Amino acid sequence: MPLSNLNRVLMESIKLLEEEGRLKGKERVITKVEKPKQGSGFRYFLEGHPDRGFIKMDSNSYLGLNLDPELAKAEHSSSLKFGVGPGAVRFIDGTFLPHVQLEKALAEFHSKEACMIFSSAYAAVCGVLAPLLTEKSIVLSDELNHNCIINAIRLAKVPKERKFIYRHLDCSHLREGLDYCLKQAKLGECERVIIVTDGVFSMRGDYADLRRIQALAEEYNDGFKHGVITMVDDSHGVGAYGATGRGTTEVTKGDVDILVATLGKALGVNGGYVTSSKSVVAYLRETSPFYVYSNPITPGEASAALKALNLLSSDKGKELLERLASNTKLFKQGVKAIGYEIIEGEHPIVPLLVRDTKKTKLLVRALFEKGILVVGLTYPVVPKGEETIRFQVSAAHTKADLEYVLNVLKELRYIIE
Ligand SMILES: Cc1ncc(COP(=O)(O)O)c(C=O)c1O
Repeated sequence: MPLSNLNRVLMESIKLLEEEGRLKGKERVITKVEKPKQGSGFRYFLEGHPDRGFIKMDSNSYLGLNLDPELAKAEHSSSLKFGVGPGAVRFIDGTFLPHVQLEKALAEFHSKEACMIFSSAYAAVCGVLAPLLTEKSIVLSDELNHNCIINAIRLAKVPKERKFIYRHLDCSHLREGLDYCLKQAKLGECERVIIVTDGVFSMRGDYADLRRIQALAEEYNDGFKHGVITMVDDSHGVGAYGATGRGTTEVTKGDVDILVATLGKALGVNGGYVTSSKSVVAYLRETSPFYVYSNPITPGEASAALKALNLLSSDKGKELLERLASNTKLFKQGVKAIGYEIIEGEHPIVPLLVRDTKKTKLLVRALFEKGILVVGLTYPVVPKGEETIRFQVSAAHTKADLEYVLNVLKELRYIIE
């Protein structure tokens, strides 16, 4: 068997992951989603568990739009009209009317000049950051940035002296990074600086102060031939955060030069996008390999995302955002009242700090037995002592759902004592 040696080596690597406690293991398979009834929200049925529906407390679909019939209808009718797939990349006639309409609507939503869609936010971050990191660029990146930013920097083959990883959310450390860039510029080694950060940090629910970051960028801008550019990945912010769902820019009353986000979390669909100036987008359409050589989302997905965006700006969207905020408040206050430690904040990500690997696993298992789906983050995924269970609140949860989860958490409190 030609693969037998490789198979053995790969299985050894998987075993090592297991020994290190990093194995994700067998995935749960959702076989059915049951609609809300009698005060209960959606229930998820899993393979091997046909008799009970689970409450999903680990969904990124913060507004519940993934299950909205209006989005499903928009996707369906668009697929019937244009086909279920684009059939080609954008420049080889894979551009359909819904793609262009969505890009226009997203640019308007973020008050930017232009927008382009990618197949995912991951592809968008890699497809935007890597082409913009030239040999005379320095990238400044928050130490807790998402894996897609870390890999985008790797993809650009940035050597040690052209990157500066600043401490999480620490603007004084970021300033030190900018001072370093200035020195490099004076030596003729740096003409462009890119500050890149997550908006909302996915494991913690905290967020970057984009107003302060933008002010720093402006302060240092003139020291560089191409300036200091700010870039945010606000995949957990857009649609979930801020009074109108515009995310971290809205919450911090800040702005950024380049914004990337996903269509696959609060907006309920799939795909990613970047929005910026006309020139940045025009350049990326020509040079970004993840765009030039890879299919876009389907026309149906684009139509569903467009519907999500329109809905977000309607009374229904306002109501969903308000419900999300009040559900989040209810859940956070409840968890704290029981005596659990959480990372403070107003975002629907609620990290419950257990601070122990064994107890985290026991609590996740016990919650599962009670029909609640959550994920545990243990060492080495998080530092020792920061073992966490990440809960995510949604506008699709009913008050009764959240009260049930809180009651269960109260009952299981003994596990972490
Ligand atoms: C901050 C951040 N960026 C990007 C992504 C990836 O989004 P997508 O699924 O659209 O690639 C995630 C998802 O986990 C995320 O948390």
